[in-house]
Amino acid sequence: MEEGQRQKMADKSLLGLIFLCSFLKGTSGHTYLHMFSSDGESVSLPCVNASTGCTSTTWMYNRERSSGTVVLFKEGMKNNDTERRERLSLGSDCSLNIYKATTEDHGYYTCRKHVNTQRYTDDSVNLHVLRVSPSSTQTEIRPGRSFSLSCQLYVYDGYSCVNLFYNEGIKLVWKNETDVDLQSDSRYQISFSPEHCNSSLTTTLLNEDDNTEWRCAITKGTKDQTSVRYTVTYLGKKTKCMPMSIFSSMLEI
Ligand SMILES: *[C@@H]1O[C@H](CO)[C@@H](O)[C@H](O)[C@H]1NC(C)=O
Ligand SMILES: *[C@@H]1O[C@H](CO)[C@@H](O)[C@H](O)[C@H]1NC(C)=O
Ligand SMILES: *[C@@H]1O[C@H](CO)[C@@H](O)[C@H](O)[C@H]1NC(C)=O
Ligand SMILES: *[C@@H]1O[C@H](CO)[C@@H](O)[C@H](O)[C@H]1NC(C)=O
Repeated sequence: MEEGQRQKMADKSLLGLIFLCSFLKGTSGHTYLHMFSSDGESVSLPCVNASTGCTSTTWMYNRERSSGTVVLFKEGMKNNDTERRERLSLGSDCSLNIYKATTEDHGYYTCRKHVNTQRYTDDSVNLHVLRVSPSSTQTEIRPGRSFSLSCQLYVYDGYSCVNLFYNEGIKLVWKNETDVDLQSDSRYQISFSPEHCNSSLTTTLLNEDDNTEWRCAITKGTKDQTSVRYTVTYLGKKTKCMPMSIFSSMLEI
């Protein structure tokens, strides 16, 4: 996606909130959850049962398994050395707020709460970020031409998308403006690759597709967790993209 489109998308996404898809309590005071966000959407990662003041709260981050752990907040204080510091803040409940999340923000976050000098409990959030982009080989967007969109879910590399799709019941679904799953519409060729965490939508553009919106959604059951919309416009050949998200009551743990 081009920078301009990204920006446009980001500007429209301030109501962004994400969905919590699973919440499991580990045996050793460690909780794990999955959250989904769209590129450009602001998110807030919860720190369960944090004490007030956040001075015993430390947030850590791993983008990839091999990248090492970065301390974002240490005992409530922002680590001024982290590259994303301007977009990070602590909520009053010690949650980690990420302003206008990008695909770079996907990964594994841990909120560590010290009970005393020896004991602590950890909550981990796996943040997965969804992004839609048009195929880069398309030079002209007009009726009669083939058009492709790719939808990619960025996940922490220690986590398998196959597991997410098959065990957690998460799906990547293409929908139109009336919320219809386009899988069964023969106009569209949809190719889903669980191994690569992505799905593409290909169709031949019709005259009436000007200003048509397609949407790639992450769903669980019948609910959308988050989605990214893409609008095709013929005039000036420009297309635009914006994230949309659905708030779920499951966030209230
Ligand atoms: C949070 O605190 C409540 C009340 O003290 C407790 O019942 C609950 O188990 C705690 N949750 C976690 C995830 O530690
Ligand atoms: C980070 O910078 C702020 C503002 O300059 C400062 O108040 C704070 O103490 C710094 N944090 C650390 C951990 O050095
Ligand atoms: C969405 O797709 C369904 C089934 O293909 C179709 O009947 C409906 O008209 C479409 N809605 C829009 C707004 O294109
Ligand atoms: C999915 O990702 C793989 C690996 O990055 C890429 O080769 C493939 O073209 C992508 N497929 C779709 C449907 O976007």
